[in-house]
Amino acid sequence: MTRFKNLVDFIKSLRFRLILLFILIGVIPSILLRAGMLNSYETRAVSIRTSEILSQAKILANQIVSSDYLNSRDTAMINVQLDQLSTIYDGRVMIIDDSFHIVRDTYNLDEGKTIISEEVIKSYYGQEISKYDSENRYIEMTVPLVRMDEDMEKKEIIGVFMVSVSTDSINLNSDYLGQTTLVIELVCSFCSIFFGCLIAAQLVKPFHKMSKSIEVIQTGYGADTLQINDYTETIQICEKFNEMLARMKVLDDSRQEFVSNVSHELKTPLTSMKVLADSINSMENVPVELYKEFMADIGNEVDRETKIINDLLSLVKMDKAAGTLNITNININELVELILKRLKPIAEKQNVELVLESFRPVSADVDEVKITLAFTNLIENAIKYNRPDGWVHVSLNADHQYFYLKVEDSGIGIPEESLEHIYERFYRVDKSHSREIGGTGLGLAITRNAVLMHRGAIKVFSTEGEGTIFNVRIPLNYIS
Ligand SMILES: Nc1ncnc2c1ncn2[C@@H]1O[C@H](COP(=O)(O)OP(=O)(O)OP(=O)(O)O)[C@@H](O)[C@H]1O
Ligand SMILES: [Mg+2]
Repeated sequence: MTRFKNLVDFIKSLRFRLILLFILIGVIPSILLRAGMLNSYETRAVSIRTSEILSQAKILANQIVSSDYLNSRDTAMINVQLDQLSTIYDGRVMIIDDSFHIVRDTYNLDEGKTIISEEVIKSYYGQEISKYDSENRYIEMTVPLVRMDEDMEKKEIIGVFMVSVSTDSINLNSDYLGQTTLVIELVCSFCSIFFGCLIAAQLVKPFHKMSKSIEVIQTGYGADTLQINDYTETIQICEKFNEMLARMKVLDDSRQEFVSNVSHELKTPLTSMKVLADSINSMENVPVELYKEFMADIGNEVDRETKIINDLLSLVKMDKAAGTLNITNININELVELILKRLKPIAEKQNVELVLESFRPVSADVDEVKITLAFTNLIENAIKYNRPDGWVHVSLNADHQYFYLKVEDSGIGIPEESLEHIYERFYRVDKSHSREIGGTGLGLAITRNAVLMHRGAIKVFSTEGEGTIFNVRIPLNYIS
């Protein structure tokens, strides 16, 4: 059972919406049905009663005319029929002559009086009027008394037959029907609310199961994947959740690996320095040359530690300031020439031939520092991981959209299984060899980051023992 923190929480819940839906489906139609039923019952009953009385009134009107009742008035049979009509329908019958005098009133109240009403006047003009007054609960009808001349051609209106009957019996029935249907309506509403709550609770159950399972996963005890197979929707959500979980695990693993790598890498030069210092301290009468040699080694370790820290700082800066590049328009030919000039001494030391081939003048919008870092590492790698007397070819080309830097070497190459890892932080193919060369495994991570920040791309092709090619593509105009 879910606990809702407050009313707003409950109103926003799926359960509340489902309950609302059941109420809408269950209660509103029954209210409408009841109102409609009562209304149509009343209309229908009134119209049946009206037509019943109207037909009787018309028959009586004919008899009144033919028996010349208006003049004689003492036709007993007509009087009986008038009284019957009045009694059966609980109403009043009046006969009015052509001078608007009431000739006969079954209530014996207004005989001899004059009556002028809209309905009576309309009936003098030949209309049959019937009207229902729902407020005062009666139906009133006026029928003209029409006398035809002998050849049935001319007609003359000699008076009006007026009936008004109470509709109390109809209204009584209608009230009774209203009460009965109200009971049914209340029962229906109660049932739909009750079952609505029950079904809504049942329907949202899988979602509660889901949040419980997520809690279990969070604690780390029990299953580490989410599996709620009740609905297609829950299956799909679980699939996506499990995918996300797997991704987070990979990220977490790589974060942990990174932290342990950093600590290890930072500790190694310190350990070396400690060993060097301890060993020289433990020796007696140490010659100055040995001191110098040990101090030079310690100096090298300090340089190595500084390089690792600097590289790490560059990477952290790139991660943090993604998108905040210091873009200026740079002559790329000059930039690459300068890098090669700086790296020439290392290449000469290993007797590696370093060649630059520029196909055209290239200038592009780049962050000079980051691009220099990226290209320097690529060319430095090509020199470092080369064979003695090998070569490194650097070529620069461009089209209307991009410029391309290709760094090709005749070096040791990269094994196929390592190709997908070389951009990872601290990854080195041959750890002992790289250490000897002085790498930390951060260079390509920096290179790749810098290239991607410029919306560029980097690709590597390599054959072990033959050489490696790095292709870099950078847009000439920076796309922010
Ligand atoms: N041109 C290349 N030829 C052969 N192997 C290479 C080449 N470039 C990179 N590698 C391999 O990829 C690894 C990662 O390269 P990366 O530049 O990231 O690190 P590094 O050169 O070892 O150290 P750093 O560049 O941080 O000083 C290297 O250790 C090396 O094993
Ligand atoms: Mg490198």
